Amino acid sequence: MPEKTQVVTAALPYANGSIHIGHLLEYIQTDIYVRYRKMRGARCLFFCADDTHGAPIMIRARKEGTTPEAVIERFHQEHIRDFSDFLIEFDNYHSTNSPENKQLAEEVFLKLKEAGSITQREVEQSWCDTDKMFLPDRFVRGVCPRCKAEDQYGDVCEACGAHYEPTELISPRCSMCGAPPVRRNTRHYFFRVADYLPALEKFMEGDALQQEVKNFLSTWLKEGLKEWDISRDGPYFGFKIPGEEDKYFYVWLDAPIGYISSAKNWADKNGQSLDDLWRGQKAEIRHFIGKDIKYFHTLFWIPMLTGAGFSIPDKVHVHGFLTVNGEKMSKSKGTFINARTFLDHMDPETLRYYYASKLRNSEDDLDLSFQDFVFRVNAELVNKVANLGSRTVSILNKNKELENRLGALADDGARLVEEAMAQGEKIAECYDALEFGRALKLIMGIADAANVFIDHAKPWELKDDPEKQRQVLSAGVNAFRLIALYLKPVIPRFAARTEKMLAIDPMVWEDHKKALTDHTIGEFERLAERVDMKAADRIVEATLAAAAKAGEKQPSPTGGSPASDLIEYDDFARVRLVTAKVLEAEKVKKADKLLKLTVEIGGERRVIVAGIAKSYTAEQMPGKTVVVVENLAPRKLKGIESQGMLLAVNDGETLTLVAPEKETPSGIRVS
Ligand code: 2FM
Ligand code: ZN
Repeated sequence: MPEKTQVVTAALPYANGSIHIGHLLEYIQTDIYVRYRKMRGARCLFFCADDTHGAPIMIRARKEGTTPEAVIERFHQEHIRDFSDFLIEFDNYHSTNSPENKQLAEEVFLKLKEAGSITQREVEQSWCDTDKMFLPDRFVRGVCPRCKAEDQYGDVCEACGAHYEPTELISPRCSMCGAPPVRRNTRHYFFRVADYLPALEKFMEGDALQQEVKNFLSTWLKEGLKEWDISRDGPYFGFKIPGEEDKYFYVWLDAPIGYISSAKNWADKNGQSLDDLWRGQKAEIRHFIGKDIKYFHTLFWIPMLTGAGFSIPDKVHVHGFLTVNGEKMSKSKGTFINARTFLDHMDPETLRYYYASKLRNSEDDLDLSFQDFVFRVNAELVNKVANLGSRTVSILNKNKELENRLGALADDGARLVEEAMAQGEKIAECYDALEFGRALKLIMGIADAANVFIDHAKPWELKDDPEKQRQVLSAGVNAFRLIALYLKPVIPRFAARTEKMLAIDPMVWEDHKKALTDHTIGEFERLAERVDMKAADRIVEATLAAAAKAGEKQPSPTGGSPASDLIEYDDFARVRLVTAKVLEAEKVKKADKLLKLTVEIGGERRVIVAGIAKSYTAEQMPGKTVVVVENLAPRKLKGIESQGMLLAVNDGETLTLVAPEKETPSGIRVS
């Protein structure tokens, strides 16, 4: 039986902002997978689109004195250029503000309605009488009802992490005009997700999700499925709900339908049928997403598809967030780097290579450390791989007696090449399993072996024995060709240069089974350039400069320069560090990094949830004296309120508790 067509998607980027290196992690991951499957001869289609609806786009357009359509068109062009320059190759890149998406969103809604899964009821919302609109959560700001931090969003407090309704904020105000919103009732539509509980349970039990994601879904299912609010009142930029004058689909209803619309748009343009892609499980469907949106892609999306008679995904691959130099991407540190800024200073394949080297099939976060990036790209891509190509091909080019011709393989050389060929299956398994880091390790193993072979055989000393020289170089070139072939999904441009240099057809996966012998190669091509920290610094500087120009300076608490890490003494003095004695400790269920500690601080008991379980067992903790931040606002972790934070040294691998050198009672100030 022929393999099923594969339909692959990456999350649809919002059309009101630029693509940044955090987004690129996902697009590069997906693109590598798709390119690999295409190299294997699969019919694999990569669909994406811009996510265009919602209040923020409308508000941005108002501020700019333009229309939402103009904003989304501008970003559409920008996104397409950025993706293309990062060698991300979609089969179709569409928009959720399209006729296909309108038709499909209505179809899904009406099917769910027919099935009796749509309800309506009155809800209380924040209304701005100046702007004459209901305010989205992010457009209400006020004092956090829990920790009393000022100027917090309407849905979550950035100071203490509390989640709440905008109506719970103290002294709320509209972030556009500053006026206090009023509460107003309005009728909303809800999707009764719970009607599809059996489908969700079946989906969870299958093999569509990574185990860690299944655990989340199982917890959410146990907590019970609430009805999902799928409507928004006008003014709103989106699709009108059929039969309504001024009510629209919530952006998250039509956004994932955008995956199907992009497929439909492609099918219509190519004389194909959407039914073959998204109905009756005829194709295999895979979504690649970040962990922040797995809620939408499981709890809501599976019921929507089931209720509307579309195929559900065979796989939802969830990846973690990108951190830069060990921290969240930050505008004030210049690490919130746009795709274009990176492209202005570095070759896109360096980022593709680096991400691939660190990607696993996991939702753990991935760190882009610039030091490591520079080291790895130079050590592996340039020194090991490109250098192997250049040191072999350049001799073949130079020694006229060889006439650029590869000969037969013999002895050690033949073994080297056979072993490199034999790795093909294992490397393929890694690509299939989205374990790209492991694939690259295997490939680097081949490069190491090939370089050792060349170092020993010293072809540059074999001028007097051209046939021997040809034999050695043929083995080196063949090993190099296999490396370039195996790396082709990651660095396609490097592979294309290799194909030109070796005068061969575009490489497909099957080509790893046959050596290249009795073949005339072309002229040497420069394959990869070294990178240096200066270029990385320039990227950060350019990012800071662009943010300053756009007036995006992060207000620093001291009013100092946003680029500076310095804090005033008074800021430090507000942090109360004290000694504490650990009384009890236990593991937190379903959280492999967390321990729940009961500590005593000067006679008072407190619960602290600490992320130290990878370095300390619960049994090791009682009796230890530790240092804690005593005046940290309480915060819920895995449903447990943590009333403080414990200090530990983090060397990147393990945590070591910070503790006084001498036996010290609890409750003593540390300064
Ligand atoms: O989180 C986001 O950036 C959304 N724009 C992703 C949408 S993915 C899909 F559901 F449309
Ligand atoms: Zn207002």
